[in-house]
Amino acid sequence: MRLKVMAISTIGLLAGLAAGIALLPGALESLLPDKQSWTIGKAAIGGPFQLVDHNGRTVTEKTYNGQYLLVFFGFTYCPDVCPAALQTVTAVMKKLGRKADRLRPLFISVDPERDRPAVLKQYVSNFDSRIVGLTGSAEQVSAAAKAYRVYFRKVKDAGNAGSYTMDHSAFVYLMSPQGEFVTHFTHATPVEKMAERLSAAIR
Ligand code: NI
Repeated sequence: MRLKVMAISTIGLLAGLAAGIALLPGALESLLPDKQSWTIGKAAIGGPFQLVDHNGRTVTEKTYNGQYLLVFFGFTYCPDVCPAALQTVTAVMKKLGRKADRLRPLFISVDPERDRPAVLKQYVSNFDSRIVGLTGSAEQVSAAAKAYRVYFRKVKDAGNAGSYTMDHSAFVYLMSPQGEFVTHFTHATPVEKMAERLSAAIR
């Protein structure tokens, strides 16, 4: 939010300067900040990934070029937090109406051992049909989680040999069609709030 305010005031300042020096060719261009300074804080989240979708197809970030992405991590055995997040995203997609056509929700499993494509396919069929479930090898999932700064850890169930659950951070990231981080939500962001912010962000 702060970045945006700064950007707007910078634009205002530049517009004023531009008006004052409109007759000097090339002067405005030399005043514009270089591209680097416009992307501060955006480069840290997201990046290339290679995963397998719920139909068993290999996908990368390029598969979804040109679409806004809603990227979140979880696992199908999650008792409450993940299903609630998927329900929220389902409701948000409905609220967004036609804008939802530009948005692709990607639910990336942090439990590839159990969440094979067929399991994910069955699971996401309970929610909005535009949600894609992604999994992959342990290495692929780790690399994707690292790119999105998502923490996850396997936790053994002390009372049940062989059984485990997953600890994971519950962020939902909005990425631009160019693959840049736009904003984030959590698994607990209310439907109204998420829909409102997404609707404002999607152009
Ligand atoms: Ni979860």
